[in-house]
Amino acid sequence: MISSYSLFWRRCLVFHQIRYQESLTNKSNEIIDYAEEIDLDYSLEDLPKIIDSMTIAWDRLKNISTSLGTFSRADKDYQVPFNIHEGIDSTLLILKHRLKANQHRPGIEVITNYGDLPKNYCFTGQLNQVFMNIIANAIDALDESNTGLSFAEIEVNPNRIKITTSMENQGVKISLADNGQGMNQEVKAKIFDHLFTTKDVGKGTDLGLAIAHQIIEHKHGGNLGSAERKVWDQ
Ligand SMILES: Nc1ncnc2c1ncn2[C@@H]1O[C@H](COP(=O)(O)OP(=O)(O)O)[C@@H](O)[C@H]1O
Ligand SMILES: [Mg+2]
Repeated sequence: MISSYSLFWRRCLVFHQIRYQESLTNKSNEIIDYAEEIDLDYSLEDLPKIIDSMTIAWDRLKNISTSLGTFSRADKDYQVPFNIHEGIDSTLLILKHRLKANQHRPGIEVITNYGDLPKNYCFTGQLNQVFMNIIANAIDALDESNTGLSFAEIEVNPNRIKITTSMENQGVKISLADNGQGMNQEVKAKIFDHLFTTKDVGKGTDLGLAIAHQIIEHKHGGNLGSAERKVWDQ
């Protein structure tokens, strides 16, 4: 946080200025004119609010900048110990503008069920790209599943993304589920094919599941697959 101490002092200065003004009985014309010229009353009333907004904006910028740092931490050509939850959280923050409410739908709820994971050796930048693509796909799928529904109808059954991590057989298991319409068997069979998409031109934005598959299976010796819908209800 921006120093709450300095914020406190700036506020004190404003309040001091207000009281000082009020206690001055013989204000010179020059001071009165100048106060009018700069609309002093209005400024003093608004200044604390402006400082508050700037503080909030500053905190947000700091969070985004930290997340971008985590997200794009110089990718090494060797694996480094990585906090997977930090990677997922930074991805979520970067995608926040797409998760929040808009005029068509309420915000997408993100439920994280994080298990107790040790740091894992990973190619961090690549893994973050995988999270980015899968979560962006979930948002695309939810937006698509909202077609034809009103804001109120979506509110009854809110859009959700659930992310669960756990240790399983000495490996890390990460499940990302959304409550969109899912995929039929035909689509499911092709999702890891290069350049396969069911979206309009220019909609699918990221590196694609084919490359995500490559990163997980070939680079990290893991498995990337699509689970059945029951994952959502677990
Ligand atoms: N969460 C999801 N829900 C439904 N379908 C999905 C989901 N994620 C991926 N898909 C399907 O897999 C296809 C391939 O995804 P991807 O390789 O990321 O390419 P793109 O996002 O550019 O379409 C998508 O076009 C979509 O049909
Ligand atoms: Mg995609």
